[in-house]
Amino acid sequence: MTGHSIQLDQHGRLIHFLTTEGLSRQILTSILDYAESFAGVSGRAIKKVPLLRGKTVANLFFESSTRTRTTFELAAKRLSADVLNINIAMSATSKGEALQDTLHTLEAMHCDLFVVRHGNSGAAHFIAGQVADNVRVINAGDGRHAHPTQAMLDMFTIRRHKPDFESLRIAIVGDIAHSRVARSNIHALNTLGVSDIRVIAPKTLIPEDVESLGVQVFHDLNEGLRDVDVITMLRLQRERISNAVLPSEEEYFQCFGLTEARLSVASPDAIVMHPGPINRGIEIDSQVADGERSVILQQVSHGIAIRMAVMAMVMGVAPGDGMVGE
Ligand code: NCD
Repeated sequence: MTGHSIQLDQHGRLIHFLTTEGLSRQILTSILDYAESFAGVSGRAIKKVPLLRGKTVANLFFESSTRTRTTFELAAKRLSADVLNINIAMSATSKGEALQDTLHTLEAMHCDLFVVRHGNSGAAHFIAGQVADNVRVINAGDGRHAHPTQAMLDMFTIRRHKPDFESLRIAIVGDIAHSRVARSNIHALNTLGVSDIRVIAPKTLIPEDVESLGVQVFHDLNEGLRDVDVITMLRLQRERISNAVLPSEEEYFQCFGLTEARLSVASPDAIVMHPGPINRGIEIDSQVADGERSVILQQVSHGIAIRMAVMAMVMGVAPGDGMVGE
């Protein structure tokens, strides 16, 4: 399941944003460039641009989320869209049916854009295949599969600090096996030209096929972090892990937790990222999370600009049209 065929129209324009996999460098770069033009909007006294005035965005969250949902909501509001937030508790047995019914109900209300988070891999792709031609879908995280706006806000944060992707060394540390963030980041990093991508985790938290994604695997943190410019820490997704594959949290922190001491083998100006929510004392020490190398809160702010850019793009209102400037 890649989703790239359904994401573009016949002219190669982005109409749904479901995965970073298979998208060109030009599309990824234009998302980053559009987001740059929106980044300033959040700092203004009046934080709105009228690009999506009269449009309705429905946030369909089948799985709980704080920062992703709220930053999508803020992004839609800053584009002047009307926003519906719908938190749907998922029933284990009637997912498929419930999903279609909900969708058709929302379509009858003339929503223009669905932002979808779902526990099942492929859910956003499925919805994009169901909606009417003029309705757009953005994936806000589906199972272990993809979280493309998170990947793009990570790329945006990296580019702000380290503009030359081709010379970067990047490490992604932790629960790779359950992480849609890792997968979407790896695809985007590859496309943007990063050749040194490392994943660092215990054997039980590395998916079997990971090397085929173009990464190097390390099971030793000190070895993997050597000279890296960017470190992305991932949350241990305990809700998706059976206890059998995991050591205790203390042991995990001993071996894979990022501390100031561990950070010393990385490049002296390495940045530390984390998509959140962070588990202090499990994958990251508080000193590092709150330290001067941490760009974790910048990631949250950048998420708004990226989500504005992606929404504007799929809705066909390019910010180059003179509506974004002062
Ligand atoms: C991530 C997610 O939901 O995939 N978080 C997020 O979107 N901010 C990562 C996680 O839950 O650990």
